[in-house]
Amino acid sequence: QTVELELEAIEKGGYEHFMLKEIFEQPRSIADSMRGRINPEDATLLLGGLGSYLDKIAKTKRIVIVACGTSWHAGLVGEYLLEELARINVEVEYASEFRYRNPIIKEGDIVIAISQSGETADTMAALELAKSKGAIILGVCNVVGSSIARITHAGVYTHAGPEIGVASTKAFTAQVTVLSLIAIAVAQKKGTISNELYRELIFGLDAIPAKVEKILKNVDKVKDISKLFTFASNFIFLGRGLNFPVALEGALKLKEISYIHAEGYPAAEMKHGPIALIDEDMPVVFIAIKDSSYEKIVSNIQEVKARKGRVIAIVTEGDTQIPSMVDFTIEVPRTNELLSPLLTSIPLQLISYYIAVLRGRNVDQPRNLAKSVTVE
Ligand code: G6P
Repeated sequence: QTVELELEAIEKGGYEHFMLKEIFEQPRSIADSMRGRINPEDATLLLGGLGSYLDKIAKTKRIVIVACGTSWHAGLVGEYLLEELARINVEVEYASEFRYRNPIIKEGDIVIAISQSGETADTMAALELAKSKGAIILGVCNVVGSSIARITHAGVYTHAGPEIGVASTKAFTAQVTVLSLIAIAVAQKKGTISNELYRELIFGLDAIPAKVEKILKNVDKVKDISKLFTFASNFIFLGRGLNFPVALEGALKLKEISYIHAEGYPAAEMKHGPIALIDEDMPVVFIAIKDSSYEKIVSNIQEVKARKGRVIAIVTEGDTQIPSMVDFTIEVPRTNELLSPLLTSIPLQLISYYIAVLRGRNVDQPRNLAKSVTVE
């Protein structure tokens, strides 16, 4: 027993929980998922695992992404990226729904599964179904040699390293990193990306680990904010564009480990329902960085403040407008907005973590949840 506990302490590398260790590993895990793939010196990008399938993706008219849980959220970010950069129509499906729906899949369609474990039963079954209908099936998995990695025609590993905490953190940012690489590579192949944007994204990706590091240095501020909201019974997370899936993921993280009811919504959709929930007891987390939806988010924040909601905003470093409107802010460094989920998701992971710890929850092994769901 003592030996086991000591072993676990060593594995946690001085952190109180695996989840915190994995959150703090992200500068490295994100770098690992790009290692040998991008070379900022000559601005090249190579995804060896895709081989000739890169050509097939570039020629397809439609991509279906199947996944569950956090991986499904990464898939939604992937949808925005592939559509924006490579101009390919993308649908993101819950694997469990896709497999039982008699989905329309034609010979040669591309189906991409995203799965940390590579063992999720529904995702596996969705892929088998797609394969039986003649689709090209690709995988974005973390566990090397996992079942999904083995049945797919090709794929790109995330290389985030083993993730022990049940709530996924570094696997998510690694998935988003890899999906960014895929989208940029396909866009380059298709010629749908300008040279200038291509270079900006390659250099932007290369700079992400240091920016994540910077966010993690400000952890005390997140801790202080978390203390004030420890006993909230609900939370709303709002974002637009690429940061809408980040809002969903922020809400999922909080539900999973603190057992606080939380909802993620596209910020503009708030007025079609969730706004009815807002009063002085409702914490609302906005992802409100300086991107193309900044002005829109500003008015969404005003709508919440007018109803006395308590707003925590994730903002771009140096922003002064939103900080003057809201209760609390957490800054993230500037980056190209297409890469912003890699930064904005970090403070949300930390908020969930600290609130769960303050509530005395079993952060690494939340009740009723499993790391890998190998049954339906
Ligand atoms: C479980 C885990 C989640 C994970 C989901 C999908 O529910 O608790 O953290 O996102 O499965 O897992 P996968 O291994 O396929 O990414």
